Amino acid sequence: MKSILQLSGRALAALALSAFLGGPALAATQPRPANYDEAKAGSQPLPDPLLRNNGAKVTDAKTWVSKRRPEVLELFQTQMYGRSPGRPKGMRFETLSVDAQALGGKATRRQTRVWLTGKTNGPFMDVLLYVPNQAAKPAPAFLGMNFGGNHAVNADPGIRLPERWMRDTKDGAVVNNRATEAGRGSEARRWAVDAILERGYALATVYYGDLEPDFAEGWKTGVRAALSKDGAGTQFKPDAWGAIGAWAWGLSRALDYLETEKAVDAKRVAVMGHSRLGKTALWAGAQDERFAIVISNDSGEGGAALARRDYGETTEIINRSFPHWFCGKFKEYSGRESSLPMDQHELIALMAPRPVYVASAEDDKWADPRGEFLAAKHAEPVYALFGRAGLGVADMPAVNQPVGEFIGYHIRTGKHDVTDYDWQQYLKFADRHFKQPAARPVPAT
Ligand code: GCU
Repeated sequence: MKSILQLSGRALAALALSAFLGGPALAATQPRPANYDEAKAGSQPLPDPLLRNNGAKVTDAKTWVSKRRPEVLELFQTQMYGRSPGRPKGMRFETLSVDAQALGGKATRRQTRVWLTGKTNGPFMDVLLYVPNQAAKPAPAFLGMNFGGNHAVNADPGIRLPERWMRDTKDGAVVNNRATEAGRGSEARRWAVDAILERGYALATVYYGDLEPDFAEGWKTGVRAALSKDGAGTQFKPDAWGAIGAWAWGLSRALDYLETEKAVDAKRVAVMGHSRLGKTALWAGAQDERFAIVISNDSGEGGAALARRDYGETTEIINRSFPHWFCGKFKEYSGRESSLPMDQHELIALMAPRPVYVASAEDDKWADPRGEFLAAKHAEPVYALFGRAGLGVADMPAVNQPVGEFIGYHIRTGKHDVTDYDWQQYLKFADRHFKQPAARPVPAT
């Protein structure tokens, strides 16, 4: 039996759907199956990111920042991911352990509990941080959430096991919804820890379930309930945050913590995520401009992929399979993508002028690689306002041919995953922007 994260997007959606709909008896109400024919993907016009609500066209960076950017952010807050709270006043950090000789002496490992409301009977998340010992300090860093617990990121025996709910697996890594020793290093292949450290970067990660367990009712034991006065009895408003909002909020809280770490340069933190956590990284980067680089790995529908394209997963499918991810209002757009007042190119544009990287995988058709590329492409006019070059290509590049200046993109061979190849591109991109930050101007057109 495969774990839920090994199931393909289609299988997972079908599984969630049959549970949601009460089984095959209600098959008639199931959403239209995913389309994989490019000729039928449609070519609906996209909203113009530069068109203000009052109809005026934005022609300079200052107007984008002061007038249009807040409007676009508001659209994503009210229509899609919901509104998130800020940093709780009482939040505090407790060092759980420090080992200056971790990973055979290569790194210093710090584990820190973030008491999100300051109360020890309140919500917390544990941050695992590796800082390279042989590198200039403060070090730039990558920050990303993980699916399988901090201890899954590396076989390092010093990493604490998560204490929160996890989905059971058949291989013994999670039993009775609790992590076991068997899960150590189980996601290591997705985290190029050695390569990251050798290149002089720190790596920080958090188990996403520390913020909210990933199932429809998971919010009741997560931060969305903990921060609400009505707790598990909360009735969410249509624009209240969903699970992606809660996870993204956790990334901002992790950055709050990194700002207190002297060995880390919090002004050079790249936020990165894969799949649903890629959607999360994009939403975190859009809301929190302290993230200096934003990286989306195979984020697909509800992430980098354009909603208006009918290819792979659709708004209707994602809303049915994962009703807890987005705000209540977003459900209204199931099967009605053309009435969305925005699309995902505008989410990417919210990163401007910061560098953003979108990655796809050739066999990850569920995530609509072309839709991811096109969203990156159509964010270019906003980067151009800042004199910053985007992808630098008109059409989708061939596989394994990374492109772009301030908007990076690649489609690699292989399936939905994070590979060493992906990390090599992120490291190059980060080196380029963090270590040689000279802005390259947009070529004159
Ligand atoms: C499913 C889901 C995707 C998501 C993916 C993941 O396939 O349909 O939207 O990105 O899970 O997070 O692995």
